[in-house]
Amino acid sequence: GDTLQEAAADRGLYFGTAITGSKLTDSTYETIANREFDMITAENAMKLDATEPQQGQFDFSRGDRIANWATQNGKQLRGHTLAWHSQQPGWMQNMEGSQLRQAMLNHVTQVATHYRGQIHSWDVVNEAFEDGGTGARRNSNLQRTGNDWIEAAFYAAREADPNAKLCYNDYNIDNWSWAKTQAAYNLVADFKSRGVPIDCIGLQSHFNPNSPYPDNYRTTLQSFADLGVDVQITELDIEGSGQQQADTYRRVVEDCLAVSRCDGITVWGVRDTDSWRSQGTPLLFDGNGNKKEAYHAVLDEL
Ligand code: XIL
Repeated sequence: GDTLQEAAADRGLYFGTAITGSKLTDSTYETIANREFDMITAENAMKLDATEPQQGQFDFSRGDRIANWATQNGKQLRGHTLAWHSQQPGWMQNMEGSQLRQAMLNHVTQVATHYRGQIHSWDVVNEAFEDGGTGARRNSNLQRTGNDWIEAAFYAAREADPNAKLCYNDYNIDNWSWAKTQAAYNLVADFKSRGVPIDCIGLQSHFNPNSPYPDNYRTTLQSFADLGVDVQITELDIEGSGQQQADTYRRVVEDCLAVSRCDGITVWGVRDTDSWRSQGTPLLFDGNGNKKEAYHAVLDEL
């Protein structure tokens, strides 16, 4: 194939990107996004603050703009994200206890119902574990509603959209030797053993000097897959430049290809200038929309 999506499809993978709706009027951006990618994640537009700005008053306008663009262009959608400690609307940030638990579950139900049938995979819960060596749950208002908040969210999502794959998504779960990775692994193992509905693990895979691509990445992907879930690389970006960056991208693609349950790869933005970490030039296209060495390495490896 001549594009990422075509080359990936030939290998049985999807190749996605995160999209910001307001940029779809930028023709360079829209042209690259449409040509190269077949799986779309809303970078911010389906998050809690965007979709439920006032309690019980849902606003799907930003999310729908991206969903409609995806549908019109024959692309699949990843849903991101139903329950998360971050980017909560103000009203939710100030909630605790059973009131918050109910509000969270209602949010999951309403948003997953709105997009029912349109979503390939939902990031049902995002970033529930703490960084560092403990493997503990992150202390958040959602966690303080009770340790079972994650499974409660998954049950609600399954009921609202039975055909979407349901993922747990996190960062710094790439290195098999890190406590946070083992904590996520244990969560998935526990859910599978108790029949909690979970279908996939999302590895954000934001790589930078503090959390570099690990040599044991393939072991991590395969270990999750061996639990009976699909594996998705959901927010890939790799800070750096030139041949070194290209080699790391190549290895990520190689590792996904080596694990049969690895469904596909999503990069977290189109051009370096679109990135949330733009100073790290972590993406496949430069600010002018030119293909970088990393782009050619990915296409070549697929
Ligand atoms: C980031 C977006 O890229 C930014 O535009 C926004 O300001 C903050 O969130 N993990 C996630 C993503 O799951 O939702 C985050 O996206 C990046 C880290």
